[in-house]
Amino acid sequence: MNYTKKYYYAFEDRYQRISSQGLEYWTVGLISVADSIERLRRFITFYGLSPNNTKIIEFGCGEGHIAKYLIQQGYEYLGIDISPSAVTNARNLLEKANLPGDFLQGDITGLNMLKGDCYNVAIDNFCLQMLVVDADRYCYLAEIKRILKNNGKIYFHEICKKDIVIDRLDSFQDYTDLYMHDFGALRDFEVFHSNKKQVIQLPKLPERYRSNKEYKKELNNAGFIADEIQEEENRCVIYAHK
Ligand SMILES: C[S@@+](CC[C@H](N)C(=O)[O-])C[C@H]1O[C@@H](n2cnc3c(N)ncnc32)[C@H](O)[C@@H]1O
Repeated sequence: MNYTKKYYYAFEDRYQRISSQGLEYWTVGLISVADSIERLRRFITFYGLSPNNTKIIEFGCGEGHIAKYLIQQGYEYLGIDISPSAVTNARNLLEKANLPGDFLQGDITGLNMLKGDCYNVAIDNFCLQMLVVDADRYCYLAEIKRILKNNGKIYFHEICKKDIVIDRLDSFQDYTDLYMHDFGALRDFEVFHSNKKQVIQLPKLPERYRSNKEYKKELNNAGFIADEIQEEENRCVIYAHK
């Protein structure tokens, strides 16, 4: 892929290809929207969050499925995504449901336009794993910390892999040299859509999965305290606070 912008801007291409292949939305592998929402619902129950006094921000909000659920529940919500097409799709989804939706196109590694100490809850559903360079992950976690209020809660739901250990990645060039010579090449992707499994062609994008232990360590290093870690074979859910 001939790409001059930072690697994660390539998500735009992915979203455009999804709609050009006739799919209404994208899910992460075979994980359904309903599954993501059910997990988030458990997080809300865990902390006893109530719409009356909870302002929520979602990082890497994609096409707005979590937004729709939270806004239906009455939460004040802002979603951010790097991809203009994802943001447009999210706005359309909410408009169709006749719900107010607040979305911003922006880069979560630097969110100067947002004030600090402002949100009670931050949500990351498969977003941290898409940042591969140490500095990007570090900046992102620092932004979450800045934007959250004291004792603000954070929800992470990521793919985890025990056998991939990358201690340090200083640049995207290091990443492609090591793992992804074919950045952007098309490959078959299994997606879960309208309750059916489908195979579509999408560009390969960089991902940096970690083990549960490594995710926890990364969050601790960024100044968050984990309250709950749910370990599954390929997935990791962490509830933490600032
Ligand atoms: C794997 S998708 C998950 C989308 C959505 N959260 C979901 O669960 O369906 C990761 C999302 O993060 C967004 N993203 C990746 N890097 C980003 C960045 N630097 N700033 C903002 N959004 C980013 C992508 O555009 C994409 O929508």
